[in-house]
Amino acid sequence: MKHKYAQNPGDFSVSPETHQLTRRDFMTRIGLGSFFLTLGGVFTSIASFILPKMSYEPSSAFTVGRPEDFQVGDMKLLETKQAYIFRSQQGFQAVSAICTHLGCSYKPFGPPNPEYPTVHAYCPCHGSRFARDGRVLGGPAPRPLPFYHMELTSDGRLQVDKSVVNLTDELSRKTDEGVGHNLYLDPEKQEMVEGPLPDGSDCTPCYAGYEHTSQLQLPPR
Ligand code: FES
Repeated sequence: MKHKYAQNPGDFSVSPETHQLTRRDFMTRIGLGSFFLTLGGVFTSIASFILPKMSYEPSSAFTVGRPEDFQVGDMKLLETKQAYIFRSQQGFQAVSAICTHLGCSYKPFGPPNPEYPTVHAYCPCHGSRFARDGRVLGGPAPRPLPFYHMELTSDGRLQVDKSVVNLTDELSRKTDEGVGHNLYLDPEKQEMVEGPLPDGSDCTPCYAGYEHTSQLQLPPR
């Protein structure tokens, strides 16, 4: 017997067989979709477990030129990185240019005066003073200035890493904070070496006044 759905011209209803097929097809697609969604979730979980977490924070290490770009006695301010680079007989040092009180930029190191008889830096915000070796000489600053790790890159450039603060026994004896600043990057040995605590006596610009502090531009990468 012919089904009535096939006998009426103009009747566009779907036959039971077609309807049944479509529903089965639909259910199959739903099932497949669910399967692939679950599979995707499982792969995502595995990938996030295996792959390292990526951080897009700017690197704390940067290069500041080559040793031959500096002369013994130089003090150069790297304003963009808020650090001073010193070149003394012992080698190179990188020092934070930010006051440890509330984060102002302190004035470049200047000559001794009757009140502070050593090379020192002055913070104009609340009057903290820092010795060339980072110690707090006066004012509200709670900590010495941090000195950063330096090294030579494989192509001979000076690199500063602000994420590594130099700590030495000598330092801990000299300050309450255990921050020691008698480490220098020796460009000949190509490593940090211990030396005397810096007193600024060989810092040429320190005696010439603030306006003579040169600004160090970062070399192109
Ligand atoms: S921020 Fe330098 S003394 Fe307060």
